Amino acid sequence: MSEQINRLVRPELVDMVPYQSARRLQKADGKPTSDFNNKIWLNANEAPGQGEYQLSAECINRYPDFQPENLISAYSDYSRLPAEQILATRGADEGIELIIRTFCRAYQDSILICPPTYGMYAISAENHGAGIVKVPQIDCQLDVDSINCALNNGTNTSETNGRVKVVFLCSPGNPTGNLLPLAQIKAVLDASQGKAIVVVDEAYIEFSINDSVQDLLGEYDNLIVLRTLSKAFALAGLRCGFTLASAEIITLLSKVIAPYPISTPVAEIASQALTGDNLTLTQTRVAESNVLREQLSTWLAVQPWCEQVFASDANFVLFRTPLKAAIFDGLKAQGILIRDQSSQLQLANCLRVSIGSEREMDIVIKTIQQIVNAVTQEN
Ligand SMILES: Cc1ncc(COP(=O)(O)O)c(C=O)c1O
Repeated sequence: MSEQINRLVRPELVDMVPYQSARRLQKADGKPTSDFNNKIWLNANEAPGQGEYQLSAECINRYPDFQPENLISAYSDYSRLPAEQILATRGADEGIELIIRTFCRAYQDSILICPPTYGMYAISAENHGAGIVKVPQIDCQLDVDSINCALNNGTNTSETNGRVKVVFLCSPGNPTGNLLPLAQIKAVLDASQGKAIVVVDEAYIEFSINDSVQDLLGEYDNLIVLRTLSKAFALAGLRCGFTLASAEIITLLSKVIAPYPISTPVAEIASQALTGDNLTLTQTRVAESNVLREQLSTWLAVQPWCEQVFASDANFVLFRTPLKAAIFDGLKAQGILIRDQSSQLQLANCLRVSIGSEREMDIVIKTIQQIVNAVTQEN
């Protein structure tokens, strides 16, 4: 293990042997893990038959591979990364949790977040007993100097107590929508060398695929990239995400993850989504979403009641308006749900609208216009 990762990982994980599930042992022995029909498998207390359920997945009576080969190979082809640098998880949310559990010692280490940002970094840290250091963004950009300071403060104080072990960056950011400049991400990676893991959450990267930082994985062994099928791939209900990192980080995360995180039907559907014509469908969906996003942003930008439209590289638009409550409540009354972000740092009076279908976007724009007309007539 590299000196850096050895220093960052929770010490007890270094020699820990993960749970040796039947499939993991088979794999380690070089035995097949999916040739169900030609073998007698009595090593996992499974039922011999499929039962009555009509499922598309074959052999649902069997435990899946710990990391189903069809899925990892499909994501490897899609991402052009070797299989050993990919971990499939139950959504990117599980990736976030695993990273914190792998690198942060409870009640000793911290994560660093840059609000306004995705809420699950803090929730997962709290659940695990990790501290949370906040370095707010400035105008949707990273405050690199203050991040640097926070990384050094932690290490300069007594031993490793309270030190920041994981920095979470979100690009494109949720709920702001913007990509972080590559130079800023690199500056944080440089400042974190030997001190912390840097996670770049790319849940929305397919909406701006040429801006991924994935290629930096070869340069920085403290970088982890998070991905998901929940957004551009339209599979939020499937619960499938991917953690991309060096092979040694993937090995460490694999010690912490559950023995069978990805169910057989999930692996099957996700692999389909990642291959052939389905990839073209995703690209088309992304292109359509980006057009609708630009239309919404352009419309909002010329509304007199709209104070600010945040630049978005994702499938949503954040805007600020003094009519926040009227718009949010009025839409809700019409059965249209958007997200109130005004409790987040720096986001007073901000609402976030996800990009839906063309019809849904037409309705939301018309309804907002009606609400605003009614409010302005009242006054
Ligand atoms: C920035 C970001 N990361 C991660 C996730 C979680 O994704 P998943 O559905 O894959 O768990 C979300 C979900 O909204 C998100 O916005």
